[in-house]
Amino acid sequence: MKTVGVDLGTRSYDIVIGAGALAELGRLSRKRTLTVMDSTVKALHGAKILASAGGSPEEVFSFPAGERSKTPETAVEICRCAARLKFDRSCRFAAAGGGVTGDLTGFAAAIFMRGIEFIQIPTTLLAAVDSGVGGKTGADIPEGKNLVGAFHQPAGVFIDTRLLTTLPASELGNGLAEIVKTAVILDPELFELLENSADRLVSRPDFEELYPEIIRRCCELKGMIVAEDEKESGRRAVLNYGHTFGHAVELLSDYTLPHGQAVAIGMAAASHLAVLRGLWKQSDADRQNRLLSRLGLPVKVPPRCRTCDLVNAMRADKKNVGGAIRVVLCSAVGSSRLPEAAGDGELAAAWEMIR
Ligand SMILES: NC(=O)c1ccc[n+]([C@@H]2O[C@H](COP(=O)([O-])OP(=O)(O)OC[C@H]3O[C@@H](n4cnc5c(N)ncnc54)[C@H](O)[C@@H]3O)[C@@H](O)[C@H]2O)c1
Ligand SMILES: [Zn+2]
Repeated sequence: MKTVGVDLGTRSYDIVIGAGALAELGRLSRKRTLTVMDSTVKALHGAKILASAGGSPEEVFSFPAGERSKTPETAVEICRCAARLKFDRSCRFAAAGGGVTGDLTGFAAAIFMRGIEFIQIPTTLLAAVDSGVGGKTGADIPEGKNLVGAFHQPAGVFIDTRLLTTLPASELGNGLAEIVKTAVILDPELFELLENSADRLVSRPDFEELYPEIIRRCCELKGMIVAEDEKESGRRAVLNYGHTFGHAVELLSDYTLPHGQAVAIGMAAASHLAVLRGLWKQSDADRQNRLLSRLGLPVKVPPRCRTCDLVNAMRADKKNVGGAIRVVLCSAVGSSRLPEAAGDGELAAAWEMIR
């Protein structure tokens, strides 16, 4: 088992990673626990998770799988379920699932009785390397995704890579895109490891050794960034690499394009902008995009997306400050810069380069 500590003073916590990490749930203090799972995770892994967590089948809240469930109403349903079960401030919630479950359960834990403990048991690769770590919780409203929420750190994260063996390829791709992102912005050695092991990540995925190692490294890196800048006032923003571009493609696809594919296209666009600005060598941008392709991720813009619509969609990004579109760019594999303003002309040129 590998353990990564996230250093946040009195709110510090450990992330336990490995094949069979569910057994480590036993090291938690005993507390009544409401386990939250979506319908798919409950059907596939519910019994195993409950047995390891020592929970009872009555103390489970489940909801229909999918982003459409990620609403404040579902978070309130979780709280109501806890209230009916007479939970109090000494109890905890456990989020066993992907990012939707983690965000919703964390949000419910932040507001139930003004805040109770929660733990994360990520079951998607994306949750293992991204949403499960960092304490951002929340829900979507009709006006936009993740517009309500709270910062609420988990008391522990348990990543059992054997739970990932049932993930469909596209869900694996969503996590792989965030892994490549993490390597490109922060860690040239992780990037090389990904280059050297691309086929063991995709065609013959190794969940016993390789994935635990890669997840450990991503958690360590994200943990470091979060410890430095918990509430995203500075450095944490580099984690948005590829996302300002990617969100535009997601929006134009009406959210039918998987997030990881949109982020991969976004990173490809960002790489061309960095080359256009003379920040990044063409050969490094090519290296990034070759790795994405080898992992089965797209690096070309869908033909139906017009460049002017993409630039307009980037304007709508909630992370823009004072009307300027701001993007994270890299200066080398493993070195990212803080978000910087970009003009419509150069953004359009970057999109055109990936047609
Ligand atoms: N809080 C953060 O910092 C943060 C960061 C990134 C993303 N997010 C959020 O995370 C969400 C996306 O996360 P996600 O991709 O994990 O989505 P998800 O939770 O909807 O999971 C994706 C799908 O995989 C299924 N699934 C989960 N575990 C499985 C398993 N082991 N085997 C088979 N199927 C399984 C789920 O039922 C679901 O259908 C978005 O809402 C996004 O906003 C949050
Ligand atoms: Zn993302």
